[in-house]
Amino acid sequence: MIPQSFIDEVIARTDLAQLVGERVQLRRKGRDYWGCCPFHDEKTPSFKIDANEHYYKCFGCQVAGNAIGFLMDLDRLSFPEAVEALATRAGMDMPKEGAEDHAASQRLHDLRKLMARSAAWYQGQLQEAGCPAVDYLRKRGVNRATAERFGLGYVPDAWDGIHRAVGGNEKLDALLVEAGMLVRKEDGRIYDRFRGRLMFPIRNRQGHTIAFGGRVLGEGEPKYLNSPESPLFHKSEEIYGLYEALEADRRLERLLVVEGYMDVIALAQCGIAWSVATLGTALTEQHLRKLFRIVPEVIFSFDGDRAGRAAARKALEAAAPQMKEGLQARFLLLPAGEDPDTLVRKEGPEAFSKRVQGALPFSEFIFEDAREGIDTGSLEGRAQYLSRVERLARQVPNEMLSRLILQQVAKASGQSPAAPVAPVVESTPSAAPAPRRTPAAGSRHARCSLELLAVRCLLRRPALASAWDGPAPAPDGGQDRQLLVQMLAWLEEDHTRPHAWLVGRAAGVSPSIKALLHEQLEADLLLQGESLEAEFFGAMRRITAAGGVAARKSRLRYLKEESRRRPLDSEEMKELQELIRNPEGLNREAD
Ligand code: UTP
Ligand code: MN
Repeated sequence: MIPQSFIDEVIARTDLAQLVGERVQLRRKGRDYWGCCPFHDEKTPSFKIDANEHYYKCFGCQVAGNAIGFLMDLDRLSFPEAVEALATRAGMDMPKEGAEDHAASQRLHDLRKLMARSAAWYQGQLQEAGCPAVDYLRKRGVNRATAERFGLGYVPDAWDGIHRAVGGNEKLDALLVEAGMLVRKEDGRIYDRFRGRLMFPIRNRQGHTIAFGGRVLGEGEPKYLNSPESPLFHKSEEIYGLYEALEADRRLERLLVVEGYMDVIALAQCGIAWSVATLGTALTEQHLRKLFRIVPEVIFSFDGDRAGRAAARKALEAAAPQMKEGLQARFLLLPAGEDPDTLVRKEGPEAFSKRVQGALPFSEFIFEDAREGIDTGSLEGRAQYLSRVERLARQVPNEMLSRLILQQVAKASGQSPAAPVAPVVESTPSAAPAPRRTPAAGSRHARCSLELLAVRCLLRRPALASAWDGPAPAPDGGQDRQLLVQMLAWLEEDHTRPHAWLVGRAAGVSPSIKALLHEQLEADLLLQGESLEAEFFGAMRRITAAGGVAARKSRLRYLKEESRRRPLDSEEMKELQELIRNPEGLNREAD
């Protein structure tokens, strides 16, 4: 707990205009300063700083706050981190509960300093003539700029490199032992932990080096040696590459989690600067919480081999309790034996990005993973498969998502989760509409044109939009078609956004189309994996076949059938009349 008086003091002593002015070009107008808002794209300034009130506000995107809020939003710091950053700027010491804390924080400070010196010394070694790591980096295709960006270094193969360069007296040596840079033997003698390795500094959010990973040049055991836990370094919390990714783009919207340091580096070098890695440990809930505080979408990539599959399952387990509304986790399984580093070099960044775009959303991977290694042909297998999905789905805090997944489970097992199965519409043509609360699987399923089928497939897997290279469906006045055309247009702009965004995009759309979209979101389409693709392509082919004649005819048939079982709404009536008048869809004006 930081006392309020201290927070007030920090805000008062911070020159907000100067703080903001380091990031944004500001111009003074009277008492206030104006600049282009760093939180949204704009060409004319609508971001105002009231220096006396220590307050900023953007009249374009409505963000507002004080210096603490500014750092939290722009640098994505937590509250205490932001307060500490400002206190440091203002030359204030964070309040401590007692002298003990003061000593501890002094030690942390000293440790950080030694780590920074070590990193600098390693980097310097990489510059030395004939350094073997230079050759190694060249072989692996890492260029100089990338090596610098990630602070890569080299430690010569000796027992006393860092000891001589950074240590030397008792106090320093003790600190270096504590930081894991030196190892103390039982007889009291000390030696360098890292020898003859390519050194990767592991940095925290503030950019301080808190640990190292060291790779042998070539073959050797262990391949990577990492710093042990220390007062600075908690392996299960830290994420490699996060600092660098945020440096590259402070407005990150998603992060790709890969397995290795070299993957992060190779991706960054070819322009995919938003990847991070755990530190050789499985992904924990702690990691995920940290990531989701920064971005709404996290994509995990795994080697497609057995170990990768196991890691993916762990990540899925960690993700389930984190799936709050508006957050998305997606899963990418790479071909067995490949990692992002090898793949991106083989196929190039575009092909790799395509793969990322095709990553399965949580709601799909949950089924995909549960099926793994199970014979779903047998009842026992099916039961096991579905109960796996159900167990995880119950941990999902996003109620709607959890319910939709459970509905699919229920449907696959032939029963409704909450109520008896709703009667299937086909068999009860004159039945009253099902009450809103019953899972409307039957009725929704019945009302499914080719267009709606395609839309549902797209909702499940947005990347299908760019996979379709046939002709674009022409707008034909029908609502379903309008929705599909609209949806394809949105996805053309960007099909990597989560559902929440798509629904948000429905803002400028007529209420009836919006309602239709929402209905599709709820509709349960029990298709998985490849059949999803097959359904989508099948539907699109039929929709666009022969200038849409087939689609018009099927739509006509569908509306005729529907009109026998229920009154059509006025839009549908209009559409039906138009289709009857002109089933071939001939353009009269053109005639
Ligand atoms: P990999 O062996 O897949 O690493 O381990 P990589 O990044 O593909 O390595 P290169 O391409 O051969 O250089 C993935 C991660 O697991 C941890 C490291 O964090 C590594 O980046 N690891 C691996 C260790 O900590 N120790 C090891 O011995 C091996
Ligand atoms: Mn690798």
